[in-house]
Amino acid sequence: MADNATPTIIKGLEGVYFTETKICKVDGFKGRLWYRGYSIESLAKNSSFEEVSYLILYGSLPNAEALSVFTKKLVSYMNLDSGIIGLVKMLSPNMLSMDVLRSAVSSLPAFADKKVYQSEAEEKLEESAEIIGRICGIVALMGRLKAGGEYVAPDQSLGVAQNILYMMTGKIPEDKVAKMLDVMMLLHAEHSSNASTFCTIVAGSTLADIYSAITAGICALKGPLHGGADEKALDMMRAIGNPDNTEKYIEEALDGKKRIMGFGHRVYKAYDPRAKVIKSYLEDIQNGSTMEVQTLTAIALRAEKMMVEKLGETKGIWPNVDFFSGPVYTYIGIPKELFTPLFAASRSPGWCAHMLEYWQDNRLIRPLDYYNGQLDIPYVPLDQRK
Ligand code: ACO
Repeated sequence: MADNATPTIIKGLEGVYFTETKICKVDGFKGRLWYRGYSIESLAKNSSFEEVSYLILYGSLPNAEALSVFTKKLVSYMNLDSGIIGLVKMLSPNMLSMDVLRSAVSSLPAFADKKVYQSEAEEKLEESAEIIGRICGIVALMGRLKAGGEYVAPDQSLGVAQNILYMMTGKIPEDKVAKMLDVMMLLHAEHSSNASTFCTIVAGSTLADIYSAITAGICALKGPLHGGADEKALDMMRAIGNPDNTEKYIEEALDGKKRIMGFGHRVYKAYDPRAKVIKSYLEDIQNGSTMEVQTLTAIALRAEKMMVEKLGETKGIWPNVDFFSGPVYTYIGIPKELFTPLFAASRSPGWCAHMLEYWQDNRLIRPLDYYNGQLDIPYVPLDQRK
């Protein structure tokens, strides 16, 4: 292309392939998702966060012994060094939870047993396990501090989701609640080259270390167009307040050209299969939970019905993974400020796996932007400018 020809610009890199992968496939038109070839529905029904993390990282399902070793490893990394605990305590009162998490993760090498920058492939898998476990531990600690408690160390006899709730509350959670969190985490564990994963890979493609790359991913996850949508969706449900206000609220928001958080997706133009699984929980928690959860659930279901009728088939805007999280996490006992950090904990296996895969055949990511400003403007000395 001649230097002065206008290039084709693909805003948001929509529809652009930048690499090959064996980790995950999203079929956005059929609303299907597979991790390493296993459908998300079969994993949600049969697997666990630990097993899925292993699958995503190592490429195959573990046998019983490997799963046990890996789970213990993640849980032992959830046990935080006093330095990290002190850092999280210091930052928490004055920063948003995602900012605390970002800062704490970027500080992890300071508390690692050995200096890990530019490690070998085998060590990168160990670092990945460390990062996943540490993020889970940090999220649990943030929850504990928000509730006014002191650090609780993980219990080696429990799994990751159980331990997150145990470290947050000091109490061993009910199996049903812990299983719900486990499936929520599994559903969020991986999703191809979304903004945060891409950001992770961009940072890592410079051959920065994995801690830097994951920190970049956390930064990208924070925004409301990506992971932060779960908190905004709950804000909307709370603002609606009464289920009978739902339709009027949505109508007015759409008339005002506002986006309904938790709906729409760059890749899915069909119902997000993860949202379907999460929706199935709403029926489970509708009865026998607190009035708040019942109200949120009723609002969520009415909002979903209306949005699907109005925008589903016509515009391809369907609920995404973030929409139903509010009622479910509220039922589990997770405060809103931890939704996106918990998303980060859940997505960390996907970030690490993509980074490790990309590094096997690394190429610096460096796209082009098309300069359309003036050139060769005469320089005016400071004392002659108006
Ligand atoms: N509510 C109402 N209208 C919407 C929504 C929504 N949530 N999402 C998209 N639209 C409309 C747009 O207004 C636009 O309408 P127009 O053609 O009349 O102008 C049309 O759909 C296309 O919108 P785009 O922004 O071009 O679609 P894109 O593929 O870029 O959008 C995005 C993806 C950013 C996720 C968008 O759907 C959105 O903002 N959703 C709300 C935020 C959200 O839920 N993010 C989480 C996504 S899942 C995840 O990251 C974990």
